[in-house]
Amino acid sequence: MNNKIRYANLIFVIRGEKVKLTKRLNTIADLVNRNSIVADVGTDHGYIPKYLIEKEIAKLVIATDISKGSLEKTINYIKEEDLSEYIITRLGNGLQPIKPFEVDTVIIAGMGGLLIVDILEESKDKLDTYLDYILQPMVGADELRKYLLNNGFKIINDKVVREGDKFYEIIHAIRGLEIVKNEVDYEISPLWFEDGDKTWKEMMESRLSILKSVKYDLKDRDSEKSRDRLIEINDKIKIYQEVLGVED
Ligand SMILES: C[S@@+](CC[C@H](N)C(=O)[O-])C[C@H]1O[C@@H](n2cnc3c(N)ncnc32)[C@H](O)[C@@H]1O
Repeated sequence: MNNKIRYANLIFVIRGEKVKLTKRLNTIADLVNRNSIVADVGTDHGYIPKYLIEKEIAKLVIATDISKGSLEKTINYIKEEDLSEYIITRLGNGLQPIKPFEVDTVIIAGMGGLLIVDILEESKDKLDTYLDYILQPMVGADELRKYLLNNGFKIINDKVVREGDKFYEIIHAIRGLEIVKNEVDYEISPLWFEDGDKTWKEMMESRLSILKSVKYDLKDRDSEKSRDRLIEINDKIKIYQEVLGVED
């Protein structure tokens, strides 16, 4: 390892270029237990493995990707930085390149929630052999929570981070049983309220204003579909307003 990586300001220097480790990636990495063996599924550029190894959080990372081109970015970097002892790369779909019991932590970040569900479902038989799942869906976090909580996972940490006007939900799940009290918990995680951080509130405010503009667009439409959608949107607005403690 050389000293090209400077942690103080979380800037990676790769091939002379500065690459900032974003708040999203930093939050994902911080959820990983020290001394873990990690599978980073859909690694792409490989920022997560690099960070986990350089920060000495993980002792080994298996970085996988379905795309040869994506994985090549990580392979080149590993060669340049002499990290091949710590980061192994494997080409393949989802968790298929990972053997049972081979890792303790699975990271799947930067994909759609339903794709993450498919990846987990396709490897159902192996899921009990890994301990921690750190999942960051770009969309469909509610679908992912629903799948997890109905398929032998419990969510132990649920974070919202903001980068500019974008919000990211990061879910830390383990195998276990969790009783879901309300359907709405899939979309609005009860764990947000226990977190001192209030970024979830900003995300809900932003979503509420989108819901209101959808409501406005629907108000003059007269099809059955639009009317059903309007009922759905109004119900959601009500829930969001209740949680946020605001009125029209
Ligand atoms: C947007 S990038 C996310 C990269 C990184 N995980 C992050 O969060 O910044 C998504 C990556 O997932 C890979 N990918 C998509 N579907 C996949 C699958 N079924 N199995 C493995 N990798 C997949 C893509 O090739 C791409 O490199």
